[in-house]
Amino acid sequence: MKIVVIGAQWGDEGKGKIVDYLANEAQIIVRYSGGANAGHTIVIGNEEYALHLIPSGILYPDKVVILGAGMVIDPVALFNELKMLDDRGIDTGGRVLISDRAHLVLPRYIQIDKERDLARKKPIGTTGRGIGITYSMKSEREGIRIADLSWPEKLEELEGVDRDFLAPFAERLKAMSVDLSSYLVHHRNSQVLFEGAQGTLLDLDLGTYPYVSSGMSSAAGAAIGGCVGPRALDKVLGVFKAYSTRVGNGPFPSEFDPGSEDELCRFVRDTGREYGVTTGRPRRCGYLDLVALRYACLTNSIDSLVMTHLDVYNTMEEIKACVAYRIDGRMVESFPASIEALNKAEPVLRSFPGWKKPLDNSLVYEEFPVQAMEYIEFIERFCETPIHIVSVGYDRKATIIRKSPWTK
Ligand code: GDP
Ligand code: IMO
Ligand code: MG
Repeated sequence: MKIVVIGAQWGDEGKGKIVDYLANEAQIIVRYSGGANAGHTIVIGNEEYALHLIPSGILYPDKVVILGAGMVIDPVALFNELKMLDDRGIDTGGRVLISDRAHLVLPRYIQIDKERDLARKKPIGTTGRGIGITYSMKSEREGIRIADLSWPEKLEELEGVDRDFLAPFAERLKAMSVDLSSYLVHHRNSQVLFEGAQGTLLDLDLGTYPYVSSGMSSAAGAAIGGCVGPRALDKVLGVFKAYSTRVGNGPFPSEFDPGSEDELCRFVRDTGREYGVTTGRPRRCGYLDLVALRYACLTNSIDSLVMTHLDVYNTMEEIKACVAYRIDGRMVESFPASIEALNKAEPVLRSFPGWKKPLDNSLVYEEFPVQAMEYIEFIERFCETPIHIVSVGYDRKATIIRKSPWTK
């Protein structure tokens, strides 16, 4: 089976944790988009790992992980990450592959990314990892791919500074290079996970443009960035938090009100440890936005949802979620493209009673407090999509499976 795991909000939904969990039953994990702008956290007991480029299956000793064609790869970040894993006793030898179609990030792209964002009247708040510039160069047909490292004529054409930068990495990158499409055909009977980065609302096409990243983070990106056709993908899982977060600028209709809801924001940020893995920035926090989540379900053909961070609400008296927007006095129930409309949108909130009990992995779903079930089942009805996995803590073990995606 081939399963895609995507972010259904603005990133940081817990994709890394869920991919790591599901990777137990996979043989191959393919990251299909983004670059070192991503930060995927995996916690196993006292050990915490922050991955930026390497797919989240790497912590199992026997999984092959592949950086897909849709990715943009900074060799410095890649080899630092491999060294970090090596230093921590994770043997990565021979099982980290890179699509020969993936693009390379150069230091000057990183510089331009930082300068451009600072110079913008309304900065996007990029991670400063050169992502947008590398994807622009790709669209301009000026990019450098892994395959180009084996093409002397192409290397000759590069500016000296770029050639000098790439030279020390070239042989190691070439040794990891793979024709991804052929590899996956050859391993057609393997269970494969396609790991997304960022989230639907940061997708270049589907997100809150221009306040987005530049890759295809939605499910459709798994086909292109994973070098398979869309019909090769069996299921799409959408990961979302029990609330919402966003790092960087851009509209966020259900964001906690900076005046009156400061305390709630602080509580969620501290309890959920809502600080960026890549930049350390505090994440903006808000109510679960069901208008946006339903949009993510529709635009990604999500088969089932994975809800994370439900534990963050364990002590709450009352929980609220946004079920519509009020824009210029009108009720709006679908997610608008217009940034102006999204900036004006006031959240229409529905209230739910809290359960005021710890939720942990000793529970099966049927033992959940009835209030937690009500919250979950309301979301399922609203989005017309089942929630098959509930995560109640950052640890790998704190994962409650209602239905395994690996079963037909
Ligand atoms: P990703 O980018 O989607 O992989 O998510 P990040 O790793 O950037 O951010 C998710 C954060 O929440 C990480 O610190 C995870 O360890 C943590 N996390 C994941 N699932 C849960 C959960 O169910 N509950 C809590 N409290 N933390 C979680
Ligand atoms: P993961 O995979 C959250 C945001 C940045 C900025 C915008 C554009 O960990 O969920 P970029 O550097 O990509 O050009 O920045 O996108 N952003 C993310 N926010 N999680 C991510 O990845 C993100 N990757 C980029 O904060 O607002
Ligand atoms: Mg993250």
